[in-house]
This record gives sequence, structure tokens and C-alpha cells, in this order.
Amino acid sequence: MVSLTDVSPLRARRNIPCASLFPMTQVFARSKHFLSDKVEHFTESVIREMTRQAMQYNAVNLAQGFPDFSAPAEIKRAAQEAIESDVNQYAITWGAKSLRTAIAKQMQDRQGIEVDPEKEVVVCCGSTEAMIATLLAVCNAGDEVVVFEPFYENYGPDAILSGAKPRYVSLRPPQPSGGEWTFDEQELRHAFQRHTKAIIVNTPNNPTGKVFNRKELELIRDLCVEYNVLAITDEIYEHILYDGSEHISLARLDGMRDRTITINGLSKSYSVTGWRVGWAVAPPAITNAIRKVHDFLTVGAPAPLQEAGAAALNLPANYYRELAERYRTRRDHLIPALEKAGFRCYRPRGAYYVMTDISAFAFASDVEFAAYLVKEIGIACVPGSSFYKHPKDGAQQVRFAFCKKPETLDEAARRLQKLKTHL
Ligand SMILES: Cc1ncc(COP(=O)(O)O)c(C=O)c1O
Repeated sequence: MVSLTDVSPLRARRNIPCASLFPMTQVFARSKHFLSDKVEHFTESVIREMTRQAMQYNAVNLAQGFPDFSAPAEIKRAAQEAIESDVNQYAITWGAKSLRTAIAKQMQDRQGIEVDPEKEVVVCCGSTEAMIATLLAVCNAGDEVVVFEPFYENYGPDAILSGAKPRYVSLRPPQPSGGEWTFDEQELRHAFQRHTKAIIVNTPNNPTGKVFNRKELELIRDLCVEYNVLAITDEIYEHILYDGSEHISLARLDGMRDRTITINGLSKSYSVTGWRVGWAVAPPAITNAIRKVHDFLTVGAPAPLQEAGAAALNLPANYYRELAERYRTRRDHLIPALEKAGFRCYRPRGAYYVMTDISAFAFASDVEFAAYLVKEIGIACVPGSSFYKHPKDGAQQVRFAFCKKPETLDEAARRLQKLKTHL
């Protein structure tokens, strides 16, 4: 809220008459004057707004991607032990050594990428901070950042806040008979321009569940090399894969190690979205720039949770197999319930969301449909338009998250039956 004390120095500079002569409403009406133009170009998160609505209507929250079940006992214990043994002060600003070492080891073991934990890792407050710190570190005003759409809703605002302009490339949904989300090579090529600084690649992808294959990644690689562009990859769903899909880090392709920033975090792989620990892995010069931005944004991520993060990354391989298998069961539980109710589902190959087509319900828009679903049926989803630049492109889509307990999904399936009989 703007107070009279807040406005007085500005008033003095501009010779504006004393605020006390104006009614308060006028002072507030003028407060837009105090806002950055940048914030005019994006709205608050729709996903987080849907969570607030889910609470308001006591709805099953299939909107926001956070698990409603427990995190692994061993990592909770590691966090408690770290606090108990007084790891309670600032960690090294770019991350606790134990966690950086575990990140480097995991990248080597899983992707064969050699990482120097001293020079190539920045631990941040979630991959969310890692993404914006990276964009702030690499973008100049007028740069462009290529983003596939539908997109995870942070990328547009992140690009804008860092002075860049997002340029969107469509991911096209599969045919009703099945298949993958695809993109057009020419459209992607066309998006690479003189001012292109970076491309953001989120694989496995939210919201589509697409897992980019080697051929697609090689095309992205070729364009990055040809146009001297960086790749910023969001690999937060790396371990959540179905139907034999393989996760390939772009950094592992020939020619990409020196031009890729790989972003990941604890939130999804270890069911700890509230811990706020993520990281960026990049070549040393870019790492240095990200470290500087990160230092002044947040100083550091929570110290005891970084120690617990090191324990998490050292969990045995069967932890990841079980994680993916549990999510596969949940996917295969939710999709038939949605299909029975009339949704057309785009079957995800990774991550824990299902995008759906809602045309069968004959609602004018996804926003109206989502409002109806949360209020009348008691299920929160995310309107598809929040994943597109032009709302009309997502006007017949909504997204459901299935990172929930089986009983939560049972309850959603029960409520979905009501939807069918209503229409
Ligand atoms: C693609 C993607 N990236 C990043 C995040 C946020 O991750 P973090 O909790 O590490 O900030 C999410 C959360 O839903 C996501 O879907």
C-alpha cells in the first residue's frame, strides 16, 4: 500500500502539492505512476490462483503441481539432523559443497556430463529462481528468447523481467488416435533471429507431458550452433518418465556443453516443493554471472535443506524407478476417469500432468469451464489459456495434475461422474 510518507520525496522533487490537500483515493489512483512498466505485461500466476479457489470451494486440487503425500522419510530425517546439528546460518551463497558435489555426481552418472562443482553449479531458491537468475544473467534489452507453447507460465514473465522478448513456437497436439506433441521445423527455424539470445527447452514438459526425443534435440542443437544461441533447459521432471521414454539432457549433445544452462531442483523428484531448492549448471563464465545475480536476489537457498538435498540426490537408483512407476499408476488411474466424463486426454510421456480437450462440454472458454468445475463439481484444474500467449489458443483445453494420493484421485473420479450427468 502506498502511504503518504512513501510519496513525499517524489512529491518534493516534482513540486506536487502536499498530499494532505488531496483525498486519499486520488493518491492511490495515481499510484500506477510508481509501478514498473514491466509488471503491466503479465498477470499473477493462474495456477496459484486456482489453488486459492480450490481452498475456497473445498475442491480436490488437481490444479497446482504439488504432491499431497509425504516426502521420503530419509530426506526428512536428513533435514532434521542438519537443523539439529546447527546448519542454520547462511550457506556459501552459490550452494553447500555437499549438494554441489551430489549434483555433479548425478549429472555424470545419469547423463555422462562432467561437471565441476566448484565452478559450474549455482544452488538457488528453487528452479524458479535458477531460471530467472539465468535470464537476468544472460539477457540484454532487446534480446529474444524462444519458448515452446503451451509453456510453463513462468517463462514469459521471466523473459520480460530480464528485458527480453519471448518468441513462441507452437507444440501441436497429437491426433485423437494418439501420438506425440510435435513442432514444425520451419517454424522453429524462423524463430531464430538476429536478436535471439536463448531457447528455453522444458523436457519432460509441463503442461503437455512431451519428452523431447533425440532427433528434436539435435535440431535444436543445430540451430543453437548456427545462430550462436544459448539453450536453457528446465529438467525438473527428469525422473518422471513413462512408456520407456528416455530423458536426454541437451548439454550432453555434441556442441552443446558450452552453450547450455541446465536447470533442475528437488521439488518434483523428491516431493518437497516447499523446500525451495533448485540449481543451474553452466559453463564457468555463465555460472559466475548467475552466481552474481543470485547473490543479490536471495543470498542463498535454505542451508539445512541443501544438506538434505545432498542426501536426496544420493538415494539409490530404485528410488527413481519406484517414483516413476507410482506416477504411471496415477496417470493410468486419472485418464480413464477423465475420458469417461467426456474429456479428450493427451497422454503424457513424462511429468505429472494431463492436458485435455474440453470441446465436448460446449463451454465458451476454458476459464468458464474451470470456474464451473471448481464451484459446482468440486475439482480445481488449470485453464489451458494460461499456457498460451493468445488465450484463444488454449480456450478448449484444461490441465489436471495427478501428483496426488490414490484416494485424492478416487475422490476426483467420484466427483467427475457428477460432471457427466450435469451436461
Ligand atoms: C516446468 C517447471 N519448472 C519449474 C517449476 C518450479 O520448480 P521449483 O519448485 O524448483 O521452483 C515447475 C513447477 O510446477 C514446473 O512445472
